[in-house]
Amino acid sequence: MATIYCTATSLDGFIADDDESLSWLFATVGHDQDPQGRYGDDASLDFDQFLPTVGAVVCGANTYAWVHRELTHDGSDFTWPYEQPSWVVTHRDLDLPEGVQSFTGDITDLHAAATEAAAGKDVWIVGGGDLAGQFADAGLLDRVWIHQTPVTLGAGAPLLPRRLRLERVRLARDGQFTAMLFDVVGPEPRRVGDVDGAAEVYAQQ
Ligand SMILES: NC(=O)c1ccc[n+]([C@@H]2O[C@H](COP(=O)([O-])OP(=O)(O)OC[C@H]3O[C@@H](n4cnc5c(N)ncnc54)[C@H](OP(=O)(O)O)[C@@H]3O)[C@@H](O)[C@H]2O)c1
Repeated sequence: MATIYCTATSLDGFIADDDESLSWLFATVGHDQDPQGRYGDDASLDFDQFLPTVGAVVCGANTYAWVHRELTHDGSDFTWPYEQPSWVVTHRDLDLPEGVQSFTGDITDLHAAATEAAAGKDVWIVGGGDLAGQFADAGLLDRVWIHQTPVTLGAGAPLLPRRLRLERVRLARDGQFTAMLFDVVGPEPRRVGDVDGAAEVYAQQ
């Protein structure tokens, strides 16, 4: 089992635009809207294959608020879309549906609880980027799985605002998305003004 940050991102590294909108994401053609395979699809990193591997779900307060807004804007009652045990990381006093708990504080404690609840499956960090970063800071983020859209946004919520080295382990085309799965290697060393030194660091890994 692994702790995986799985999200969609713009080409310039934002997971929501500066209006907290994902319209740019939903306007991107995936393989299911590309039946003739014009853009290519090897389906090996399909999100539909990811969800069954997930045993617990973790998201930040703003992501939860977005999901709530999105699923209730037409007047519908709110139903949390995932059946797995779920946590919202927040300082707010939220009225959460059954199966969703709130958590405040050190992500290490949440990791232990979510891992136990996942019972051998993966823990999915839905976002945002800083929340995934908190897991990385604690050395508890194993993988990053992104669907990159051919859109630049210029500003918005950052994908992963940390300095990390990743190793790409899979690459797939999903319509106009580029799907990539990475292992997290660890903090990326900084060698100011020492380009050759940085090259040495890579060579040693
Ligand atoms: N492209 C995609 O597939 C995708 C995926 C996920 C999210 N999104 C979008 O991206 C945006 C993400 O928003 P965001 O970057 O602001 O991130 P977020 O993680 O959703 O929310 C951040 C908030 O979570 C709370 N929080 C974080 N860590 C905490 C901790 N350790 N203890 C207690 N509370 C903690 C804080 O809120 P409080 O202190 O106010 O509670 C913090 O301001 C949203 O608009 C979301 O819809 C897009």
